[in-house]
Amino acid sequence: GSSDCLRGKSVVITAGPTREALDPVRYLSNHSSGKMGFALAEAAQRAGAQVTLIAGPVNLATPAQVKRVDVVDARDMRAAAERAADLCDIFIGAAAVADFRPATMAEQKIKKREGCDESAIALVKNPDIVAGIAARSQRRPFTVGFAAETQQVEHYAQDKLQRKNLDMIIANDVSSTNSGFNSDRNAVTVIDRHSSTHLPQALKADLARQLIEIIAAKAQP
Ligand code: C5P
Repeated sequence: GSSDCLRGKSVVITAGPTREALDPVRYLSNHSSGKMGFALAEAAQRAGAQVTLIAGPVNLATPAQVKRVDVVDARDMRAAAERAADLCDIFIGAAAVADFRPATMAEQKIKKREGCDESAIALVKNPDIVAGIAARSQRRPFTVGFAAETQQVEHYAQDKLQRKNLDMIIANDVSSTNSGFNSDRNAVTVIDRHSSTHLPQALKADLARQLIEIIAAKAQP
């Protein structure tokens, strides 16, 4: 039945933002709440899976019976994800990983300088965690990514699916104000190589249940 569609499966989910340190007191990050990833973790656990939730800094309670690994920056998240993915059947990258991090982390708090009204921060690219998992030739789980887009949602999601070698991508239109980032609601389009299915706006918990059923069905070997 649908309530145990992941019985015996192991699922790893990344969620929330990452924080990229500039100095001991400052960081670059984004407004991700982690709600979608946590809702997916809860739904997957209720569907019978063993769930590892790799969480960036968020203010959310750990769903019952879910193993949570807290991380701060993208490189920590990648290390935890690579380790957990070795033993899993399904990997879902729901985290809003910072694309870039400061090229260097200052050991001491960066000081203002008298008469200096401009400043610049050099950035370097972070590793793409979900693409790294999807690129594996061995121990490659069924790999699902998210795409937050503000325009041509399906077009960019298809492109991302192919470029990152994902099995499925969940696209959401973050241009609407009552869904997506930080909201309790979301509307998504589930895209794989053969099909595209729109799931209309719903509470993230309800959407998570629907997504877990779709993922379980598609991940079947
Ligand atoms: O390229 P973009 O950031 O839009 O891709 C979003 C998807 O890729 C999400 O599934 C996100 O979790 C994942 N991602 C990642 N590591 C990154 C950037 C994005 O796992 N450094």
